[in-house]
Parts: sequence; structure tokens; C-alpha cells
Amino acid sequence: MDQVDAESVSMGAVRNPALLASTSILGLAVILLFYFLRRKRTTKIPADGLFDLQLLGRFNGVTGPIFMGVCGKVVNVSSSENITVGEGYGRLWAGKDATFALATLSLKPEDANKLDFTLAQFTEDQRKALAGWYKHFTVKYPVVGRLREYDGWDFSEIEKQAEKETPFGLGKDEQKAATGADEPVLLRPGDKVKLQGTADDKLDGKIGVLRKLDAATGKFEVALVDEDSSVLVKPNQISKI
Ligand SMILES: *[C@@H]1O[C@H](CO)[C@@H](O)[C@H](O)[C@H]1NC(C)=O
Ligand SMILES: *[C@@H]1O[C@H](CO)[C@@H](O)[C@H](O)[C@H]1NC(C)=O
Repeated sequence: MDQVDAESVSMGAVRNPALLASTSILGLAVILLFYFLRRKRTTKIPADGLFDLQLLGRFNGVTGPIFMGVCGKVVNVSSSENITVGEGYGRLWAGKDATFALATLSLKPEDANKLDFTLAQFTEDQRKALAGWYKHFTVKYPVVGRLREYDGWDFSEIEKQAEKETPFGLGKDEQKAATGADEPVLLRPGDKVKLQGTADDKLDGKIGVLRKLDAATGKFEVALVDEDSSVLVKPNQISKI
């Protein structure tokens, strides 16, 4: 009975062009209103500071601020000169959770928003690297919320380690020597670098191009300019030029 009624109503609409037109316009208006309200609501920071990955994805810097996730926290990295929309770190991590990528020094897009890992699977060096980055992002930028997906995770070990760590697990002095600053230099593949302090006279002073971060060793692969070879070096053995 219901079915017959529904069918006769829609048949009636089809037979009556004026009714069909006004129904479509009304429908369109409802859909537009729905999207408008939804957009307005979801691009606001939630009052309780609780984000999920989908909401975080809206803070990708295209129309508003750039937020990033690290160790369950959401940070506003808009003021960073090195994180811009659509390029480098911005392309990788704007509006995304970077916890796994930072721990493994990975610049692979698929390692952003990656949640199927445990802290226990990280090596000591990876935990140190994560602690260093956690410190960098939470000290330098305002924490604006937390990520629901990490509810129940215990980052206290990382947070504790962060008190004494600098990125890549370097000691404070090594860090200073490497970058000339307390601030970690964020390096990208393609960056031109100079080798230094490699304990190899033939390598020191050579210029190369950063290829990638080798997650297993925590070393950088650098292709030497003017030579058909590449070397693996520690973070403190290169400086960006
Ligand atoms: C994010 O940071 C930027 C730059 O510091 C600031 O202008 C903006 O108000 C912040 N936005 C939010 C929502 O915290
Ligand atoms: C940002 O990039 C500039 C220029 O490339 C560099 O000098 C600076 O150290 C970087 N800052 C951070 C925090 O990586």
C-alpha cells in the first residue's frame, strides 16, 4: 500500500512540470543549506579540543590555519615558515597526524595518518627521534587539541624523554653544532647540503643533495654532486646550504 502511494506521488510529480521544478529547487536548497551549516560547524575548533582525523584534515591550511598531529596532540603550525600548503612538509603533514612519520623519519605520504603501529615496535633511536619532534612541535607551537584516535594510548614515556631530547636523538651540543641553533633544521629531499665532521678527509666539505632519510639507521642518504655515488651520513654530519 505504501509503495503504491509513493509511486503515484512521484508519477504525479513527473506529470506536473511545475511541481517537479519546485520540488527540485526545494531539494537543492535543502542540500546547499546542509553543506553550508556542516562546513561552518566543522571548521571551527571543537570546544572540548577533541579532533578526529577527518576534522583535522580540514585544517590543512587551504582556507584556514595549518594543524598537525603528533603523539595524540594537535598543534597549530601556521606560523612555521617551513610548513606551507602544498609543498614539502606541508604537502605531507598539513591537516594530518605525523606521529609515525616523525618517529621513523619517513617522508612517505602513506606514513602520514598511519595508526596501525605501537610505540613498543619503535627502536630506541626512533623513540628518541619522536621525543625530539614531539618537543619541537609542542614547545614551538600552540597545542589546540587532541586526537580521538589516540585515546587510550600512553605517550608518557615519550613526553618524559622529550624533556631531555632534541630531534634525531642528538645531544643538545651536537644539535647546536649541527645546525648552529637550538632549533632543528627541517630538511627535505632535494636540499643541498655540505658534509662535515665525517672523520673522512675525502668526504668533509663535499657538497651533495639530500635523497632521503633512512629510517632503519636514522641516517641521511646524500648523493654527492660531481660524483656518481651517494653516502649515508648522520644528521650532525651535514649542514644545509
Ligand atoms: C594559529 O596560528 C596562527 C599563526 O600564529 C594564528 O594567527 C591563528 O589565530 C591560530 N589559529 C588558531 C585557531 O589557533
Ligand atoms: C626553516 O627554513 C629556513 C630556510 O630554509 C631555515 O634556515 C630554518 O632553520 C628552518 N627552520 C626550521 C625550524 O626548520
